[in-house]
Amino acid sequence: MIALLVGLACAPDAALPFGSTAEDCASCHVAHGDEWAASRHGQSTGSPVFQAMLPAVEDAWGGFARKTCEGCHAPGHGGDTTIGCVSCHAADGNHAERDGKLAVDLTEPLSGPFGLGAGEAHTTIDRGFLDDSALCATCHTVTGPELLVEDTMAELAASDLADRSCVDCHLPVVGARALTPETAPRVSHDHRMVGVDPPWDTDPTDPVAAEATRALLASALTLRVEAGEVVVTNTGGGHRVPTGVSFLRDLWVDADGIDGTTTLLRLGDQPTHGGVDVPLLVDADAVRHGSLASGESARATLPAATTAVHLRARAVRLDVLDALDLSALAETLPVHEIATVTVGN
Ligand code: HEC
Ligand code: HEC
Ligand code: HEC
Ligand code: HEC
Ligand code: HEC
Repeated sequence: MIALLVGLACAPDAALPFGSTAEDCASCHVAHGDEWAASRHGQSTGSPVFQAMLPAVEDAWGGFARKTCEGCHAPGHGGDTTIGCVSCHAADGNHAERDGKLAVDLTEPLSGPFGLGAGEAHTTIDRGFLDDSALCATCHTVTGPELLVEDTMAELAASDLADRSCVDCHLPVVGARALTPETAPRVSHDHRMVGVDPPWDTDPTDPVAAEATRALLASALTLRVEAGEVVVTNTGGGHRVPTGVSFLRDLWVDADGIDGTTTLLRLGDQPTHGGVDVPLLVDADAVRHGSLASGESARATLPAATTAVHLRARAVRLDVLDALDLSALAETLPVHEIATVTVGN
């Protein structure tokens, strides 16, 4: 009893003195809250593609598989309905390095890069896990259900860019800014965590978000024409491009010629059944891999009289949208012009 009392008296005021949802955090951390709300983490259940896949997953793979999808996209940490602030800031390790098995403990101090300790609002420490790729990889390494496999971390570990972390590339420093309206500026990181998917919940056509995605893709891929061939190389992606749900992605090279435009090659993974291409993973018995590892190139012969080649991308393939009865979304999904090379004579 005495030990318990002493323990209580000595314990730092670690438990949060306020609620633990992203909305609670954003009441003070306004800029971080806005960026997070526009991010795929803040909208991690809002994708119409995700929602349309859930019943298809349940039909094909069973109710447990559907729960697995929901368990990672809506882990419920701290009472959030999406991936909230505490999914990262209250994670003090993981139970396994994959499949979303994070150890989130709201009774411990929050993780922060500065290790400020006990502050007026709450306590933070730098436990070294927040900027570790292992945090991200716990959710970004997916080993099922069934054919749903995403191995971004292993792809990065195998690349020439393995010394870079997820944070280096996906949370760029935005310069100094105040973390709350009442405090002095500090070095801060962009929490939009730009990727390929549009902000479905807010405005999938948002031109600012579309340009951020286009710029990210352009930093990954190089397009060139040499010796009668068009060559696309993954020069900046670290992991494979596309990575993650690469069975949804559309990345292709078009050639303009006198007969109009022809598609020369497509990158990305293709679900197949009995060797025949199918749009949806749930209908497949295998996946043909087509993404580019770091440093790897894809090539195609240039047709005669080509005037220009274009590297283009769309977040979700049109045949996938059609198969999910989401054809109308095709209009809202931007086609990103990643690079163009003019072929002169
Ligand atoms: C009542 C206001 C308030 C709320 C609510 C709040 N914070 Fe803070 N937070 C602060 C203040 C003040 C600082 C210190 C800022 C400074 O000194 O620059 C801070 C600092 C931080 C830091 C940086 C600390 C470090 O050591 O690197 C992180 C990370 C952080 N908060 C995360 C969160 C999260 C996550 C939540 C929600 C669970 C949250 N905060 C809720 C006021 C708040
Ligand atoms: C060297 C920089 C770099 C590193 C390191 C890096 N990424 Fe990326 N990432 C990119 C670029 C560039 C893109 C855009 C190209 C693409 O879509 O793959 C991207 C795209 C993504 C995407 C969008 C998915 C898609 O369709 O391709 C996800 C998710 C992602 N990265 C997660 C991660 C995670 C998790 C880590 C750490 C394990 C990580 N990245 C490490 C540069 C990086
Ligand atoms: C996907 C993981 C993730 C989520 C979700 C997340 N953060 Fe962060 N946060 C980080 C990382 C990583 C850093 C920087 C770590 C480093 O470089 O040491 C960071 C840094 C911070 C900092 C310190 C200042 C800065 O910008 O570096 C604050 C404050 C903060 N986050 C608040 C929040 C709030 C508030 C939310 C929710 C609205 C949130 N974070 C959601 C991963 C996350
Ligand atoms: C709790 C699990 C979880 C953690 C931790 C996590 N992520 Fe994610 N992340 C997801 C999920 C799920 C999505 C997809 C949400 C959606 O689009 O529906 C996602 C989406 C993304 C995207 C956008 C992909 C796209 O194509 O638009 C990027 C980039 C990303 N995460 C990077 C990171 C980085 C960097 C970290 C570590 C600092 C991290 N994530 C930590 C689960 C997580
Ligand atoms: C262990 C974590 C995890 C599990 C389990 C998981 N996902 Fe994801 N999901 C992710 C991550 C991380 C991303 C972001 C990858 C990327 O953008 O390339 C993602 C992205 C997606 C996207 C793209 C979102 C968009 O905006 O279009 C869809 C769709 C999706 N997942 C469907 C599913 C389905 C269906 C299941 C169950 C069969 C599932 N996921 C299970 C982590 C998970």
